[in-house]
Amino acid sequence: TANAMWGGRFEAGPDAIMQAINASIGFDKRLYAQDIAGSRAHAAMLAATGIVDNSDAEAIRNGLAEILTEIEAGDFPFSVALEDIHMNVEARLKDKIGTPAGRLHTARSRNDQVATDFRLWVRDQCDAAIEGLRALIGALLVQAEAGADWVMPGFTHLQTAQPVTWGHHMMAYVEMLGRDLSRFRDARTRMNECPLGSAALAGTSFPIDRHMTAAALGFDRPTANSLDAVSDRDFALEFLAASAICATHLSRLSEELVIWSSAQFRFVAMSDKWSTGSSIMPQKRNPDAAELIRAKIGRILGATVALFTVMKGLPLAYSKDMQEDKEQVFDAADTLMLALAAMTGMISDLGVNRANLEAAAASGFSTATDLADWLVRAAGLPFRDAHHVTGTLVAQAEAKGCDLPDLTLEDMQAVHPAITAEVFGVLGVQNSVASRQSYGGTAPDQVRAQIARWKEILG
Ligand code: ARG
Repeated sequence: TANAMWGGRFEAGPDAIMQAINASIGFDKRLYAQDIAGSRAHAAMLAATGIVDNSDAEAIRNGLAEILTEIEAGDFPFSVALEDIHMNVEARLKDKIGTPAGRLHTARSRNDQVATDFRLWVRDQCDAAIEGLRALIGALLVQAEAGADWVMPGFTHLQTAQPVTWGHHMMAYVEMLGRDLSRFRDARTRMNECPLGSAALAGTSFPIDRHMTAAALGFDRPTANSLDAVSDRDFALEFLAASAICATHLSRLSEELVIWSSAQFRFVAMSDKWSTGSSIMPQKRNPDAAELIRAKIGRILGATVALFTVMKGLPLAYSKDMQEDKEQVFDAADTLMLALAAMTGMISDLGVNRANLEAAAASGFSTATDLADWLVRAAGLPFRDAHHVTGTLVAQAEAKGCDLPDLTLEDMQAVHPAITAEVFGVLGVQNSVASRQSYGGTAPDQVRAQIARWKEILG
């Protein structure tokens, strides 16, 4: 039999496979709370504007409240024949209150309904991402503060470059995640306009009050163009893009944790709570959570590419293609929130091996740049010459199998007579990091200033 909601001109019902490809209830039931909130706001507005009478609006309101309870109790009879959450709720309302239920869809379409529901849902996810990021940044700040002056090797090309502090390294991720947080804030602000009342695409001839529904649903204002409002999903694309960038940051941090926890580095020890063992190799302690977070970007970026691909080339206004938006965003959001929570736990429980960090910081000629800078400052050499002299000294140390501070003054003076004993002051890693006082540099004072700034930002 034809569909009860739109089947007036139909004689036959859909083919079973048509139903299978068309129905979205299997996943969009997740929008039930948003759908009911939108319907409540719409019904209240229809009554306030005199489009439906108060007793009908009252019946609708009570019926919707019962439906919410039913769904939350797991008692709601979801029907695939009713396609999606919007028609499932409306049909159930008709079962419960009869004729007045049919008045709810006045001056509304599923097109503005789904656009509204989905914005509400994505808006909540922006808030969840912001909360998750605040927690993770908080955990990184604790690590940064504990080790604001612990020296470790800084790398470029994963080769020893210059000493940095543990706090500085942690704070690098705080900056990245802080930008992620502001991206979710910006996206939230931009998406916070209400599509409800755009109706199918052109607006409506009923004297509705879109400002009232927008305010009731916590939007800043109604959307200004009805065609745009039902057609675009850029708010979801922005959420996905922000999620993909954030997941990229989490992936890089994960990679560092994997490297740092290896037996070759032993910079950190992952707590038991965030590690797994091997069924064959008894010594193993694997950083599985970090590896999984490292991989999760694949799903999130996949969802991002999928929705861009769905949206590109769609003519205005609504097309059913857009029903493909939800599963991607649901999966990306779930994945991101899980990854943020797991990373927060791992960072909070992370054991840091300060002695190993410092030993590693001193090896690999990490203060060669300090030596070259000293030759410029104290001996007046042009930097290029100082670079060459230092390179010669590094080669000598390498040949002797020692580090730069282990060379004798005679060794050094043989390479350049202007070198004095004062040079040893700059060859230690502590002196090296302490000297990097430029704004944003790795000197512990600078790092502590940034920690204080972030604590203030987070409140
Ligand atoms: N289930 C649909 C979606 O998710 C709702 C909108 C349907 N509108 C329509 N005209 N068929 O996009």
